[in-house]
This record gives sequence, C-alpha cells and structure tokens, in this order.
Amino acid sequence: MWQGRIGTLALILVAALLTVPLSMPRASSARDNQVEVYSWWTGPGEEEGLRAMIKDFETKNPGVHVVNAAVSGGAGSNAKAILASRLLANDPPESYQRHAGFELADDVRSGKVEDLSSLYAEQGWAKVIPQGLLDKITINGSIYAVPVNIHRANLMWYSPGTLRSLGIAAPPRSWHEFLQQAVAIRAAGRTPLTLGPQWTQKHLLETVLLGELGPDGYEGLWDGRIRWTSPLVLQALNTFKQVLAQSDIASSAADWQPQMDRVTAGTAVYAVMGDWSYSYLSLTKKLRWELDFNAAATPGSDGVYDFLSDSFTLPTGTRRPDLARQWLIECGSQAGQDLFNPRKGSIPARFDADPALYGGYLGWALQQWRDPRTRIVGSLTHGVVADNAWNAEIDTALGLFVQDGDVGKFARTVAAKYQETR
Ligand code: GAL
Repeated sequence: MWQGRIGTLALILVAALLTVPLSMPRASSARDNQVEVYSWWTGPGEEEGLRAMIKDFETKNPGVHVVNAAVSGGAGSNAKAILASRLLANDPPESYQRHAGFELADDVRSGKVEDLSSLYAEQGWAKVIPQGLLDKITINGSIYAVPVNIHRANLMWYSPGTLRSLGIAAPPRSWHEFLQQAVAIRAAGRTPLTLGPQWTQKHLLETVLLGELGPDGYEGLWDGRIRWTSPLVLQALNTFKQVLAQSDIASSAADWQPQMDRVTAGTAVYAVMGDWSYSYLSLTKKLRWELDFNAAATPGSDGVYDFLSDSFTLPTGTRRPDLARQWLIECGSQAGQDLFNPRKGSIPARFDADPALYGGYLGWALQQWRDPRTRIVGSLTHGVVADNAWNAEIDTALGLFVQDGDVGKFARTVAAKYQETR
C-alpha cells in the first residue's frame, strides 16, 4: 500500500516539476523578436526590393529582426511546395508571399490565412488600392492579403541592336508576324525565342492565348465561357505549337535570368517574360532601357495589361501575429512600396505612389496601368485566374504537350480537369 502511495506521490512530483516551467513566464529568447518572411525572391533581380523593405522595417521596429526565408526558383517553382509541407506541419512563417486571385483564395478556403479586414480599416488601405485588385484578395467581404505590387506578364523583351543587325524594323505585332520573322532569324543562325523551365513555357502559353483570342476570349477560358475544344482555341493552341518549334525548348535555360542573358548576348532574339526582367537587366546587368534592351507588349496584346500581384499574408497559427501585422503594415505602406517596387521592376499596388521614382520602363508601365483605355486581365501562371488544383493539372498536361504536340488531347484534358477540379 505504501509502495502504491509512494509511487503516486512520485508521479505527482514529476508532473509538478514538468508543469512548473510551463506556468512560469518564459525567458525571452532572440527568436521572440524575429519575423520570418517567406518568399521566392533570391538572386539577382529578385531580392533587392525585398531587402530594401526589410531594412526599412527593421529601422522602424528597433529590436525586431526579419528572417528572410526565401527559397530560390523563379515563379515559386520550389518555394510553393516547401511552404505547402510547412503549412501541413503547422509550422507557418510570420508571413508568406501569395499571388492575388485564385492562388490566395485556395488558402482562404482551407483556413490557412487570417482575415485582415480590421488592419485594412485601421490603415485606410481600401482607399488607396484599386477596387479591381481588392476584389482579387476579398472573399465573402473579408480581405486576406496585402499586395505590394503590380507586375505585367505580357511582355516580349529584345535587344534593339540584334533587331538592327537582322534588318528587323520592330518586334512582331501578331504571332503570325513572329512566325514570319522567325524564318529570317533562323536563316541568320539565331534562335527566334528563348525559354526557361516549365513555368516559362506556361507563361508563353498564356500570352499566345491572349494574343490569339483577344482579352474576352482569354478571360472566357478561365471562367468556363469559352470551350477549350472550340475551333478558335484549337487554332490558338496550334499557333502555340508552332511558336514552340521556333524556340530553344530542347536546350532551355535553367531559370528566367539565364533566359534573359541569351537575349542580351544576342544568341536569341526574343524572350517572353514578366517585368521583373527590367530590374535584372537595368539594375543587375546595368543595361540601358531602350538602348541596350527594350520590351513591347507580346504579339497581339497591345493595350492589354496581363497582371499579377505579389501579396503578403498573415498565416493562421503563426508564432508572432503581432509582429507579422507590423510587417504587413510595412508592405502596405507608401514608403515600403516605393522602396520595393523601383528595385523589383514592378509598379506599386497603391495608387498614391511617387511617380518620380518610376523611370524608364516603369514610367511606361505606370502610365499603361493607369490609362482608362487599358484592358486588364489576370495571369494564369502567376495565380490570378485559375486555382492551384487546376493549375497543377494544366502543368501536367503541358509537360506532355511539349513532348507529343497533341493539340486536341491537350485541349480535352484541360477542359476535363476544369470540370473535375470545380
Ligand atoms: C512571379 C512573381 C514575381 C517574380 C517572378 C519570377 O510569380 O510574382 O514577383 O518573382 O515570379 O520569379
């Protein structure tokens, strides 16, 4: 009996010892003042803007340290998968990068991110962010992310010197014209169009669809109004196939920066890429806008802004939601956006930014974005128009398509997967 009592007392003692430290105030550790910010902005042309915003944040929040948890790989090709496993393991950072649109909506539906409506009210952000963009981050009346920028996807980059040496007067205004130019370019021993990893091929696909179908047709592809198997879409996909045949897909570049290097080196003539290229070419490579490199709307998409927006979130269950909110205030502030965007090659999500800071290409971008005649559509590759499940199916189908070139099969698969992933 005593033995039993001693055993019970010992157990109580052990339990008490185990609980004491938990009930006592925790000693503050260095980690307590850390904000982990997760993105895919590493490497030239990607990280400079983020670093500038981090520096400003740390100055305004003395004692708080940002852990820059960026995972390399253009368009989040590696970062998104690693983040998914962290969120599954309930190990969220203080804030992570998401694209406005369907990509973010998936996280809202699965409860991964917090409602930021009260922060919006406190900061007055709804008055300085365009309604069209707010719509892409609002679900059932609540707002879930803080957009830092607007990027443009439908741009074709080239070197004016290369065009001159080939006797080409101007970049092509239709994909048909591109295919005609490609014949002459090939005859001169150069690559008409350079590509990178698979996401750059999807990025090209969306711009060919936009150019061939026009903005209404393009938008209809994502909301089910236009059938993927209709003759017009099949024809556009066939154009895509012909465009791919004029590219270096068989020996494509490792990521978008080396892809752009092929254009500036003159081995390839054109690259379709978003305007993050501007930061890389002008700031990292120190090349001169319009003299050493230039960009035009992708063929057939003049006057259309195929947009995407990088936004930051407050994940559910993060360690320091208070510091995460402070980080989001930096992201949404005019000062933060004006530090970030001129270095990122994007224009601010807010419309009260200082236009004097946006020169060269960015001046043109700002003017196009604000022009009421500009038609705005959303990017497929960068999360605006299709949710993650359908996007992943499109990736798989595209991987097969670039191998077998079967237009009909690709269209049928994408259409079927749209229904299956509803
Ligand atoms: C996009 C992102 C851009 C840029 C690009 C290339 O998805 O929105 O900010 O980083 O990928 O990595």
